[in-house]
Amino acid sequence: MKISVLTGAGISAESGLPTFRDKGEGLWAKFDPMELATPAAFKRQPERVHEFYNLRRRMLQQVEANAAHFALVRLAERLAKAGGELTIITQNVDDLHERAGSSHVIHIHGELMQVKCIACDRVAVWTADLGIQDVCPVCGERGGLRPNVVWFGEMPYRMDEASAIVARSDLFVAIGTSGAVYPAAGLVELAAGHGVRTCELNLAPSDNCNAFDEARYGRATEIVPAWVDAIGL
Ligand code: OAD
Repeated sequence: MKISVLTGAGISAESGLPTFRDKGEGLWAKFDPMELATPAAFKRQPERVHEFYNLRRRMLQQVEANAAHFALVRLAERLAKAGGELTIITQNVDDLHERAGSSHVIHIHGELMQVKCIACDRVAVWTADLGIQDVCPVCGERGGLRPNVVWFGEMPYRMDEASAIVARSDLFVAIGTSGAVYPAAGLVELAAGHGVRTCELNLAPSDNCNAFDEARYGRATEIVPAWVDAIGL
């Protein structure tokens, strides 16, 4: 069996990372994304944008993967033994899937622990704070580094690859995502159009909950391990 999973901020919430749209605590409830997560905002006030991502990068290094991330590692192992395959497509810029032990992860919104150089377009690992005077470790250009995250108005990474994997899955599962941001939110319709069964695992019904064949609601650290065990591999 081939399973493709789309994860969003809800899977990392219980690790201590804020989501984007949850009332009160969501990042976009506190901050204006147009001031922090667009190419125009970065051009206008790069220090402010760096400060926002520096805070998130520091926070990420203080948290750990949770039971939901680990459950997906178990699922991949069980599927592999049965001749199947798990692909994780994540909108998250954190590295908690990898830290839990997942290997096949497609980061469609980039990665917080990486920088991209505007001069040479190369990506490099970056764990420290980032500033407007930092030098590209690949080409040596000063002042051209940005977080390797996809901003509003930019194309997500590897969508063709992710879409092809979803289309040839037996099951597509969305975990902890509001279904508000396209093209990721459209993967459930793509799956359904290819006859792939679909399931939502979320705290509460998402914006596109009606597009799924089935759903389980609750905290990710509870419902993801329970769902993995219920698959019965
Ligand atoms: P959102 O903040 O939009 O949605 C988080 C979802 O997780 C909501 O549906 C919550 O109900 C659910 N949730 C919260 N806590 C949970 C928990 N403990 N267990 C299970 N589910 C929980 O986050 P995303 O859907 O990931 O893009 O947002 C998509 C994109 O919008 C992000 O990748 C980001 C943002 O703008 C970029 O930055 C490009």
